[in-house]
Amino acid sequence: MTGMDRLRGHLVKEYRKKTAKSRAVFHRAEKVMVEGGSHSNRLWRPYPFFAAAAEGPVVRDVDGNTYIDYWQGHYANVLGHNPKLIRREMAACLGRGALHTGFEASHQIELAETLVRKLGGKEAKVRFTTSGTLATMYAVMLAQGLTGRDHVLKIGGGWHGSSPYLLKGVKFHADVGFEGRESAGLLDDIVRRTLVTRFNDCDDLQRIIKENGDRIACFIVEPFLGVGGFLPASKEYIELARRLTAQKGILLVFDEIISGFRFCPSGVQTLYGVRPDLTAFGKIIGGGHAVSAVVGSREDMEGCGRARGPGGRVLFEGGTFSAHSEYMKAGLIMLGHLVRGASTIYPKLARSGEKLRRAIERAFADEGVPARCTGYGNDVVPGSSLFMVHFPREAGLTYKNPEEIYDDRRTNVALREEILKLALLVNGVNAVHGGGSVSVAHGDKDIDRTIEAYGETARLFKKYLY
Ligand SMILES: Cc1ncc(COP(=O)(O)O)c(C=O)c1O
Repeated sequence: MTGMDRLRGHLVKEYRKKTAKSRAVFHRAEKVMVEGGSHSNRLWRPYPFFAAAAEGPVVRDVDGNTYIDYWQGHYANVLGHNPKLIRREMAACLGRGALHTGFEASHQIELAETLVRKLGGKEAKVRFTTSGTLATMYAVMLAQGLTGRDHVLKIGGGWHGSSPYLLKGVKFHADVGFEGRESAGLLDDIVRRTLVTRFNDCDDLQRIIKENGDRIACFIVEPFLGVGGFLPASKEYIELARRLTAQKGILLVFDEIISGFRFCPSGVQTLYGVRPDLTAFGKIIGGGHAVSAVVGSREDMEGCGRARGPGGRVLFEGGTFSAHSEYMKAGLIMLGHLVRGASTIYPKLARSGEKLRRAIERAFADEGVPARCTGYGNDVVPGSSLFMVHFPREAGLTYKNPEEIYDDRRTNVALREEILKLALLVNGVNAVHGGGSVSVAHGDKDIDRTIEAYGETARLFKKYLY
């Protein structure tokens, strides 16, 4: 039995002791729900806790345990769970009868105006839908419709939701790296037409566009990489992407579903000073509701309204619940608050993120456990509330791209995903992929308590593994 097995055994025992009710609920869920739930990021082994309530930085499970939470609604809850300012207004809305009507209503205009204004574009237009997956899917369809081309270029490690165009090169596969298909049920042709390039690698971008530029409809990239490793793109890379795509008639699509309103009261693109052709927003902009949007120039976006490209109109129908009036109102409150409070909110988020990243690295170093955090900003993004911990197999490895983070030969991925996860839960912290996002609701005490939990974890790692 390896040290990992023994540590896993110890942690599973401790976790089971505190989560007996969750375990019973999970067994019930497993009978009628695939894998016992609705999203694989919420389903960890041996079983997830089931949430009973959540407020601010904390989530409480059905057993009455509380956890300081950095998952925060898939990183959507930048103000923490259930912020009062949105809750109050939503309660009033419901009192007035805010359930779905299926008619156009005016809150959506204000939210669209806010997005356009914050991107600094007078001539931009917006279409809403209900998930990040749909927003990026429509952005790709729009790009293909406008250009008449059928290839899509994305980043190895880039996660844009599970739309067929983008389910390649998300996970690192031991045999093919980021060239693998991520799902059954995809047409071979679509997989073949999805091209993958290395994040932050200017040479690779130049090469792939030189070789395939005439076939590529769009290059989709997160300027601050999310699940791929919480890494900021270099300014040079983003500027090159803009230049090369413009030269070749490729649409540049920024996926700002995590980064939108996370680093500043707008897209992170405003910090880079680079305007893409299309931007996808989601998560934060819904104020805790299912809202996403595609924003682009009036001319491009009108490709959804009437025939523009060679194939006719792009049928971007956001769906039955798109621009749900109550959701639009929640989004407006959220964005209004972030815009008004930007001068205090973003520095606070950045300070908390910095403190956590530094202290976590120190906690592991103190126990002689090699660990590095990503989530740091760079010369463009001054500070960041994101953090992700990695356990390098080689001493001195610093992380610059998803290949280093997800190649198990270089980094012990299972230690982060499985063992760290459980060790933190046992110590009252919920992290996903080794970390998560700090919210405005996380105070100094929460951050200090979190640092203690990582310290406890580091001591366990030393005892069993190093
Ligand atoms: C960068 C990015 N794009 C797209 C998506 C998909 O969004 P959704 O889960 O709302 O479909 C996600 C989800 O995590 C994401 O992180």
